[in-house]
Amino acid sequence: MNFENFILPHIWNLKPYSSARDEFKGKEGIFLDANENPLGSGVSENWNRYPDPLQLGIKEQLAAIKSCSTNQIFLGNGSDEAIDLLMRMSCQSGVHNIILCPPTYGMYEVSASINHIEQRKVSLSKNYQLDVEGILQTIDQNTRLLFLCSPNNPTGNKLKRLDIYTLIESFKTGFVVIDEAYIDFSDEPSFILELAKYPQVIVMQTLSKAYGLASLRLGMAFAHPSLIQLLNKIKPPYNIGGATQEIVFKALKNPSFKNDSVRLILAERTRLVDSLQNIPDIIQIYPSDANFILVHFKRATELFNYLIESQLITRNRSSVALCEDSIRITIGLSEENDKLVQLIKQFYSA
Ligand SMILES: Cc1ncc(COP(=O)(O)O)c(C=O)c1O
Repeated sequence: MNFENFILPHIWNLKPYSSARDEFKGKEGIFLDANENPLGSGVSENWNRYPDPLQLGIKEQLAAIKSCSTNQIFLGNGSDEAIDLLMRMSCQSGVHNIILCPPTYGMYEVSASINHIEQRKVSLSKNYQLDVEGILQTIDQNTRLLFLCSPNNPTGNKLKRLDIYTLIESFKTGFVVIDEAYIDFSDEPSFILELAKYPQVIVMQTLSKAYGLASLRLGMAFAHPSLIQLLNKIKPPYNIGGATQEIVFKALKNPSFKNDSVRLILAERTRLVDSLQNIPDIIQIYPSDANFILVHFKRATELFNYLIESQLITRNRSSVALCEDSIRITIGLSEENDKLVQLIKQFYSA
């Protein structure tokens, strides 16, 4: 697999910034190399020293959790940083294009627009599966990235694995990016386990969902080591702050929180779906492999506004093609879900 063909030449040849913490990696000594403040930070903990630019402590833990090696892991300031860097690494405005399969996560489109990259959209089918033929017809020699999101946001379902294999095996001019932000809620195995077989695949995951660390901003991309090296070359040198590294390091030592969260959220999802099923004004509850459900309601926007009036906030997806009159509902705590059901019943009985 020759990555060079998929990477912009100026990125391939880039001489990256070499930070103080790149040049001296030791932890002991008198540090007069990075223009830091030697006195501390003026808060109870000291954050005056620059953090590890390659976040090795966290990567060692993640490699064990995800069954891969540290050199297959890139860490970004949220998955959104990885999405942006992938575009900047491989696409030249006015030349290359990316393929998206809407309805899907909105940042692929926004990031492409910021980078002024042509987006080719091949809609999902009515049951929210990939239009494999349509995608294959849309790919040309300038297609550099194909974004697949499974389980998909906002629809909640996983994509058929066989379709993903077909696309990986047929797409020869760029990378297949599989966004697995919600994989922890699914019984589907991660494509991380298939990276050795498919070096053109990039898997994205995040600590923002099942791990409960959205505010720390820690997104992950898993890929072939040479691709990870390129991403590390173009990222801002200290893209993951020291506080985030320290807290994530502690959080990853406690797998039971994430496992218990997933178990409870999935049980609540089943309970919520069961309660909603008895409401006749609900047209469809779509199957979910994630920590949210997409629901097709009668008068969805009116209902959405009614819920907001009671300070219950959901995500109205009614303006999104193929999600007309649908609301995306994150699974909350048991009492929050009960309140939601009560308000929906109240709305339709008024
Ligand atoms: C499919 C998908 N990918 C990525 C993200 C963003 O993750 P992060 O918080 O790591 O930027 C989201 C957030 O909602 C998402 O739905």
